[in-house]
Amino acid sequence: MNVPLLDLQPQMTRFREEILQAVTDVIDSTRYILGPRVTELEQEIADYCGVPAAVGVSSGTDALLVSLMALEIGQGDLVLTTPYTFFATMGSIVRVGALPLFADVDEQSLNIDPDRMAELLEEDQGGERRIKAIMPVHLYGQCADMARIMDLAAQYDIPVIEDAAQAIGAEFPFAGKEDGSVQWKRAGSMGLSGCFSFFPSKNLGSVGDGGIVTTCDPDFAERLRCYRNHGAEPKYYHSHIGGNFRLDPIQASVLSIKLPHLAQWHRQRRANSAVYHDLFQQAGLIGDPVILPEPVYRNAAEAGAHDFHIYNQYVIRVPRRDELRDFLQSQSIGCEVYYPVCLHKQQCLAKYDYGDLSFPVAEQAARESLALPIYPELSDEQQTYVVETIARFYRS
Ligand SMILES: Cc1ncc(COP(=O)(O)O)c(C=O)c1O
Repeated sequence: MNVPLLDLQPQMTRFREEILQAVTDVIDSTRYILGPRVTELEQEIADYCGVPAAVGVSSGTDALLVSLMALEIGQGDLVLTTPYTFFATMGSIVRVGALPLFADVDEQSLNIDPDRMAELLEEDQGGERRIKAIMPVHLYGQCADMARIMDLAAQYDIPVIEDAAQAIGAEFPFAGKEDGSVQWKRAGSMGLSGCFSFFPSKNLGSVGDGGIVTTCDPDFAERLRCYRNHGAEPKYYHSHIGGNFRLDPIQASVLSIKLPHLAQWHRQRRANSAVYHDLFQQAGLIGDPVILPEPVYRNAAEAGAHDFHIYNQYVIRVPRRDELRDFLQSQSIGCEVYYPVCLHKQQCLAKYDYGDLSFPVAEQAARESLALPIYPELSDEQQTYVVETIARFYRS
C-alpha cells in the first residue's frame, strides 16, 4: 500500500473545473496585480479569523517580514521567539537586521514556553530594552499559550506577531476575567498581527505561494498595505522602504473557492488524529515507544466544539527516529522530520555565537519528531497500515 505524506489530488479533482474557471476569469479580466479578487479574499479571511482587516501578501515568509518592517524593527533589536520552528520565523527577523532571542519550548505542545519567556523579558529590564517584538509560532496547527503570552506582552508593552503559518482556524481559550466564561479566539486575532501561509501543504493551500496578515488594528493594516507595495503612499511617493509583497489574484481566487470547505477539512484531520490514537492504543505503543501529539486542550476536541488543533502536521515522537523514517519510506509510507536542526544550531547563525546555547526540550524534539500522513482524505486502511508498519519496526 502507498501512503503519501500529503495527497493534493482529491482536492484538485474536486475543484478542478471551478478553479480553472476562476483562473480564466482573472486572466480575462486583465487585472493581474491586487484588484477585486485579492480584496474579496482579504475580507473573507478577516471574517473567518474574527478581525477587522487582512492584507494579502506573497507568502507566509513575507507576512512575517512585512509585519516586522511595519513595526520598524531593525538593527540592534531583539525578537523573542522559539528555536523550534520552520526557518522563515527566524529568517525574517535576521533579514530586517534584528536578532532572535530564543526561549525553549514546552514539553507537551513544543510551542514556546511562557515561563522561559517571562525570565528573558525580566532580564531585558533596566537600561535600554532590546526586545521589540514577541513572535510565537503555533506549531503544527496548535496555538501557543496565547493567554500567558498576551499577558506578558501587556505587562512589558511589546507587540506580538503571531506566526500562524501552520494554524489557520486554530482556536485558543481565554478565561473571562470575572464571570468564569471562556472566549475562544482564532489564530491571528490575538496579537497585533497574524501571519499566515498558503503554501500548498497548509490546511488552506493555494496553487503556488501566497500569504496574508491579519490584524485588529486598522492603522497597522494601512501600514502593512503601504509596506507591501514598496512603502509607497501615494504611488511613487515612498515614505518607507517596503517591498513587493503583493498577493497574486490568481492565488486569491483559488483560496476563495477553498475557504468554505476548511471547517470540513479540519474536522477530517481531527477525526484522523482520533483514529491514530485508537490504532496506537490497540497496538500498545502509546507512551512506550511512541509519544503521540497530545493536544493541550483535549476536552475541547472531544466535545468537537473547537478547533484548538487543526493538525496541519501530526507529529509523533519516537526513539531511533531516523531508522524508523527510513523504514517507513522503504514501505511506501511518506513521513518527514519537522525539524531536524534547531534554529540556534543553523550554520547561517554561526557568526552570532548561538551555537553554545542550549535549549534541551527543543533539541530533544529535533531528535525525536516525525510527521505522519494526516491529510483529510486519508483512509482508515492507510492509517492502519501506517500503525502496523510502525509496530513491525519496533517489534523486530
Ligand atoms: C511556522 C512557519 N512560518 C513561516 C512559514 C513560511 O511560509 P511560506 O512558505 O508561505 O513562506 C512556514 C511555512 O512552511 C511555517 O511553517
